[in-house]
Amino acid sequence: MRKPMIAGNWKMHKTLTEARTLVAGVLDKLDESAEVDVLICPPVQLLFPMAKSIANSKIMLGAQNVHEEASGAYTGEVSVAMLKDTGCSHILVGHSERRHVFGESGDRLAKKVRAVVQGGLIAIYCIGETLEDREAGRTTVVIDQQIDEVLASDVSAEHLIIAYEPVWAIGTGKTASPEQAQDVHAHIRTRLGSVYDEATAQKLRILYGGSVKPGNAASLLTQVDIDGALVGGACLVAEDFTAIISAVLAAA
Ligand code: PGA
Repeated sequence: MRKPMIAGNWKMHKTLTEARTLVAGVLDKLDESAEVDVLICPPVQLLFPMAKSIANSKIMLGAQNVHEEASGAYTGEVSVAMLKDTGCSHILVGHSERRHVFGESGDRLAKKVRAVVQGGLIAIYCIGETLEDREAGRTTVVIDQQIDEVLASDVSAEHLIIAYEPVWAIGTGKTASPEQAQDVHAHIRTRLGSVYDEATAQKLRILYGGSVKPGNAASLLTQVDIDGALVGGACLVAEDFTAIISAVLAAA
């Protein structure tokens, strides 16, 4: 059985004081014994203080981005080892905003995923089609390309999680229907079976992301190939984030 994960991508939100209030609110409502992995991905300046705030709880710490090199003259960037120092166990790679706003290419993302995995952390590799792709019937072509240009058998599957986030559903309030999401998740799992093997693909977790809210979480999270959620907007409000965690537990 795949253990569900609910991950919160804070993006560029929260000052230190706001972050402490948010985490305290989540901890207050969190069942520590629940069979779910909970991850928060705050902006980089909050990683050290948030590591302290979540110490002795089940919440894990993740980063939103990383540079592929170990060190060097890369102003403004951070390496895997630096993020590991802060207590991060997971790093998002290839979020659609990194691809579309910051122009990160498949080639670059392939290096990033390998840097994360070789550094002993878990890469959450994000993939998803744009509205234009979907309307042109190219969803699976784009997904296959995003998988094939980055993943191969040298990337340890034990250090990998996939997040399917249709670009048109991110921050727009439009969510893929549970059936649309399930169809793509099933396709992704089959494709992962050709990168690895069938048994490995069955073990890999595939999270859904894109306007996941307390009101739609249950219908998405009951789909057989949806193993959790990568949550943006709704993770910034403690009650909403914990309601999504409760929804995944109810769906199990
Ligand atoms: P959203 O963001 O939940 O606000 O749509 C999801 C994400 O970008 O990971």
